[in-house]
Amino acid sequence: MSRIEARRDEDTAVTGNLVDRLLTGLPADAVLTDPDVTVSYANDMASFCPAGTPAVVVLPRTVEQVQHVMRIATELRVPVVPQGARTGLSGAANASDGCIVLSLTRMDRILEINPVDRIAVVEPGVVNATLSRAVNELGLYYPPDPSSWEMCTIGGNIGTASGGLCCVKYGVTAEYVLGLEVVLADGRLMSTGRRTAKGVAGYDLTRLFVGSEGSLGIVVQAVLGLRPKPPEQLVLAAEFASGAAACDAVCKIMEGGHVPSLLELMDRTTVKAVNDLAHMGLPETTEALLLAAFDTTDPAADLAALGALCEAAGATQVVPADDAAESELLLQARRLSLTALEAVKGTTMIDDVCVPRSRLGELLEGTERIAEKHGLTIGVVAHAGDGNTHPTVCFDAADPDESRRARESFEEIMALGLELGGTITGEHGVGVLKKEWLAREIGPVGVEMQRAVKGVFDPLGILNPGKLF
Ligand code: LAC
Ligand code: ZN
Repeated sequence: MSRIEARRDEDTAVTGNLVDRLLTGLPADAVLTDPDVTVSYANDMASFCPAGTPAVVVLPRTVEQVQHVMRIATELRVPVVPQGARTGLSGAANASDGCIVLSLTRMDRILEINPVDRIAVVEPGVVNATLSRAVNELGLYYPPDPSSWEMCTIGGNIGTASGGLCCVKYGVTAEYVLGLEVVLADGRLMSTGRRTAKGVAGYDLTRLFVGSEGSLGIVVQAVLGLRPKPPEQLVLAAEFASGAAACDAVCKIMEGGHVPSLLELMDRTTVKAVNDLAHMGLPETTEALLLAAFDTTDPAADLAALGALCEAAGATQVVPADDAAESELLLQARRLSLTALEAVKGTTMIDDVCVPRSRLGELLEGTERIAEKHGLTIGVVAHAGDGNTHPTVCFDAADPDESRRARESFEEIMALGLELGGTITGEHGVGVLKKEWLAREIGPVGVEMQRAVKGVFDPLGILNPGKLF
């Protein structure tokens, strides 16, 4: 028997033992071992992130089952990769070799919606849109709305600290996570935070878990803050002859004290890509399209004031939507942007640089320079009101030279973001895609302290190893 074959036999024996042990506390249908099936759990939606081969995928339905999985993982020292819907864009949910993929998608119950306390208590596998619609029916609102909201789960949103389109007014996921139930690496259950409107008892471990990318523990329940449901938002589209003019309008809007419920930018490349994909009829003659919305009691009046500011900043045309249906169509176009940009050349690398909004114009201009230097198409779609941009490098992955230039552009954009006082990731997280860049952003002392925190929660290093740093 060759050494490789012997090694393979050994691996099979280890996996067999692991699976047997898992089955002592999980039903058979919650343990997947067929390699043709488990391979489909290897990746999230990020391009160019290495992923390993999972030994097994488990789909628990209860907290006790998650505790069982973690106890076995600790005992056998097996890495665990928690997953939601795998819509993430940084490889944070990618499997590592021989790991247990712990998919939380079957823990999908909304346990409580309380209009007096303005909270919802949910399991991690609840889909964002399902929760949003359920609370809506009770006159409430759960704001965080990533573009993938029809698919992504609340657990994934917490793990990656997701943002979305409404953040400019309502903030990001972290602002809505009040309390958590977490299964620790060794299987113990820990409660953090509160279900009250206030609470400052001890360190804010709840916040620590938001954005921890499954590296500290498994979130099995969350208490989420809700808002009263605002009136339906009305959207306006403003066309600009340059990205700089659109950014100037964004600055004027924010400086003027306006509080739009959405303030997004799509550049000409993105607009054209969306039209090509979905025939949306967006204006292609424009260099930059701003979408703004208000969900106030008189959105038309608020939009008129905002439209006037856009015109003062050089908008060539300002077109308010007639009604909610037309508004929704514009938002659909925006949400399609990244899928549409992917269709341009088959592959994309999506940046997530967030800069102070006063520096947004410089980021756009710099991105254009980088695209020219590398001879590539880079479409920019941005949560402009947050200064959070997604310069998206479009390239042909079958062309090695183009792939190299794409990678370089992707990295130069992050370097530019840091130069402008920004961050390498506003809402997609670090995962495996930006590991070196986290160190560049927070420095060696920052990394050392982050590692120390991880060591407290995960002394054996079995929770989502190889991510973040
Ligand atoms: C968006 C996601 C990719 O903004 O963050 O569409
Ligand atoms: Zn985004």
